[in-house]
Amino acid sequence: MYSTNLTVPAPKIVDRQFKKPLLCGPGPCDVWPSVAEALTKPVLSPLCDELFNVLDDIRAGMKYLFQTQSNLVLAMSGSGHTGMEALISNLVAPDETMLIATRGIWDERAYEMAKRYGINAVAYRIPYNRSFSLTELETQLSKYRPAALFITHGDSSTGTVQKIEGLGELCHKYGTLLLVDTVVSLVGVPFFMDAWGVDGVYTSTQKALSGPAGISAVAFSARAEEKINNRKHDPPFYFDIKLLAKQWNCYGNTRSYHHTLSPPLIWALRCCLQEVCKETLPKAWARHAATTAYCHKRLQQMALEFLIPNPEDRLTTVTTVVLPKGYDYLEVVKYMIKKHNVLIFPGLGPTAGKSLRIGIMGVNSTIEVVDEVVNALTDALRALTKSSL
Ligand SMILES: Cc1ncc(COP(=O)(O)O)c(C=O)c1O
Repeated sequence: MYSTNLTVPAPKIVDRQFKKPLLCGPGPCDVWPSVAEALTKPVLSPLCDELFNVLDDIRAGMKYLFQTQSNLVLAMSGSGHTGMEALISNLVAPDETMLIATRGIWDERAYEMAKRYGINAVAYRIPYNRSFSLTELETQLSKYRPAALFITHGDSSTGTVQKIEGLGELCHKYGTLLLVDTVVSLVGVPFFMDAWGVDGVYTSTQKALSGPAGISAVAFSARAEEKINNRKHDPPFYFDIKLLAKQWNCYGNTRSYHHTLSPPLIWALRCCLQEVCKETLPKAWARHAATTAYCHKRLQQMALEFLIPNPEDRLTTVTTVVLPKGYDYLEVVKYMIKKHNVLIFPGLGPTAGKSLRIGIMGVNSTIEVVDEVVNALTDALRALTKSSL
């Protein structure tokens, strides 16, 4: 009856065939088989008891992963950027100063976000192929006495890991909150929120947790919580931690509606946490360290060089490796996907055109996966020699 009113005809949305590649870039990573199953669990309505029970499980699991006793732990609906934006918008007021320790693209994103909130964003930039010394960070902290310092623990654009231990104490000496991105490091590398004095932290699911993207856990220290409770500015409604704390029942007395959470993502995150809790963090860290050490040994046997000169600065979950002169990074990546269905990434931001990025993490942190990736890379370098050199 209404058909004559349609000005846009229905498109033909055909079925598509897609052969899933082995995901060994800096993320997303493959998901645990149990997580793939969890994604098909029933829909939970926003106010049913079972949803709130699942949220309680997630909060307990995330406290373990972040190693925090804090109550203000929950998950944001959105990918890792949502966690970044939630920390910045809740903890730093317009006109306050935020110092951004910058060595890769995630810090540049934080800088950009801070500027959009009217925050006085100050970037302290170092070369992309190393991490910061605590001494140089203290020099910047004493110079600016910022409301917050933003720093990335594991940087997937450069393949570097930053020492966080000791930084919380330094920040607090200058009245600064310490905000840390652990999107690509959590579970793959040791992290201790409370012991290291971290005030705000976020992570994402699609890296070493081996879950689907779209949900980002955050946690706040007592210091951060005090700032949130006494702040004069309003963050965006969707990111408001005061409101979300009620939905997530952070204080044990509220089970309320803020927005409709995605049941597949909630179930999936809960299942990722079950996997990590079953394995335990120390074993997950040891597995990642051993598998990556094996990967590095094989890359060295191929006479390839690491982009990051100091082994202590190299991130366990993402390795940046330099190809001999004459190879085109993108061509190598394309060959590996086409011939072997193995997906690794070329460099990004400061490392574009300078390295490959190989992600060995989560369910893919195994010797078998390393062999598959390195064998595919060996074949690519052999096959492409003539055309590229
Ligand atoms: C270290 C780091 N931080 C933040 C992000 C952004 O996360 P998302 O793409 O899930 O928004 C990424 C994504 O690769 C990342 O590796």
